[in-house]
Amino acid sequence: MNSHSLHAKSVAASRRSFLKTGAALGAAAALPSFFLRAADKQKKWPDNSFLQGNWTPVHEEITADNLKIIGKLPADLEGMFVRNGPNLQFPPKQNYHLFEGDGMIHGVRLRAGKASYRNRWVRTAAWQEENKANKALYSSILDPIDFTFLAKQLLAGKNPFPNRANTALIWHHGKLLALWEGGAPHEIKVPGLETVGEYNFGGALKHPCTAHPKVDPKTGEMMFHAYGVAPFQPNLVYSVADRKGKIIHTTQIKLPRPVMMHDLAITGKFTLFLDAPFVMDMAGAMLGKPPFKWEPKFGARIGVLPRHAAGDKVRWFEIKPCFVFHVFNAFEDGDEVNLYGCRYPSFPDFLNLNPPAANDQGAGGAEGGAPVAYRWRLNLKTGKTTEGALDEFDCEFPRVDDRLAGAKTRYGYGLSSGTALVKFDFVKDRNERHDFGKGRETGEGVFVPRKDGKNEDDGYLISFVYDHAERRSEMAIIDCRDFKKAVVARVLIPQRVPNGFHGMWLDDDVL
Ligand SMILES: [Fe+2]
Repeated sequence: MNSHSLHAKSVAASRRSFLKTGAALGAAAALPSFFLRAADKQKKWPDNSFLQGNWTPVHEEITADNLKIIGKLPADLEGMFVRNGPNLQFPPKQNYHLFEGDGMIHGVRLRAGKASYRNRWVRTAAWQEENKANKALYSSILDPIDFTFLAKQLLAGKNPFPNRANTALIWHHGKLLALWEGGAPHEIKVPGLETVGEYNFGGALKHPCTAHPKVDPKTGEMMFHAYGVAPFQPNLVYSVADRKGKIIHTTQIKLPRPVMMHDLAITGKFTLFLDAPFVMDMAGAMLGKPPFKWEPKFGARIGVLPRHAAGDKVRWFEIKPCFVFHVFNAFEDGDEVNLYGCRYPSFPDFLNLNPPAANDQGAGGAEGGAPVAYRWRLNLKTGKTTEGALDEFDCEFPRVDDRLAGAKTRYGYGLSSGTALVKFDFVKDRNERHDFGKGRETGEGVFVPRKDGKNEDDGYLISFVYDHAERRSEMAIIDCRDFKKAVVARVLIPQRVPNGFHGMWLDDDVL
């Protein structure tokens, strides 16, 4: 069975499961702390595959202690797994795009052999406005433009597409930040997951911060960027914050056209930017056309900029046209910069922001336009690029040991076919697969190093798993040294944890 049919099967299974799924799973240990008013649940939710199956939002925020554990929690694993994702508070006005759900953070804390769970919405300004109004107020990017609303929002200095803080999490200068594609981070308290509010680095943040900053573990610096989210903004802005959260460098990088750039990568010396031809068309959007267009005729390239240099010092390396949401890591190796990421031959159609690609110029990849693990090698001496797929199967949500961000990495981890996590050995060019099995859907695996670990893979991979047959969510812990083997521990969650985006591990000493 190819990956495309696997995807189709998975979507169909999710839909079937949705029909069977009743209320959120309950347990005696669950202590509901917030309920939607009963009338809200009666409102009509649209037929949208990203609001069905395990994408269906949950409506309660709960706190639950003494969770049931199958297996044995590793004694050296104390801290909290936190994961962000979209979870709509109210049915949308018309359409819904996956990127527009209200951010909800799910956290599982492990301490003294016990586990507890809590989930909390990020109380963004939009969440609060809509909560007060008891209904959705904002339109989807897929809806026809409401010019009256647009003008009203712009005149009020508000983004008509609000910051939902729903994408990722990062820990920097003693703060947990919930991140989104086109706005400021939101500061979140730990371990309670309460929202402090938008965080602007003491007023120094002058541009949005995308969802995937990178922290250099050696210097503590955080590198982040924003792309053309407002009509008069430069295409790309890039900043560096020092280990104390002081923004020490901001520069603009000129691009020939405004493109979506979800992730960036760092090495010890450089920051890498992915200029892929998924081009914003605001004029077209005003006329009711898709807001982005896949334009492979413009080619694609990777920009390499010394970390603290001005934007005009960026050096571009041509690559085969593609789209990349996420990278594993990048590092310098002699004259070369290596970048590992998950490459789509074109922008993925299932995200429905653009028409299907007419002229894919892909350089290999899984069938059906699925992403594959991929390596680009940029030769700083010759200016040449070598690139190629690491394998043929679909792979997304790449991660490495975050302590090696920007440094040479042997192992990477990814999600495949919705039910499997994969461990890549980049040096030996091989991989191992841990499949949770039919009907057991999982998400991004987060690597947590063992405290006394000696080797790079000395640690655990943690993810949420949803069992469609049992209608139950759990947090699974895999020992990365014995990757294929059964999970070492399963923490059963007394409420369904919907599919989401990105997570991280917080060590007990910061909680
Ligand atoms: Fe992402």
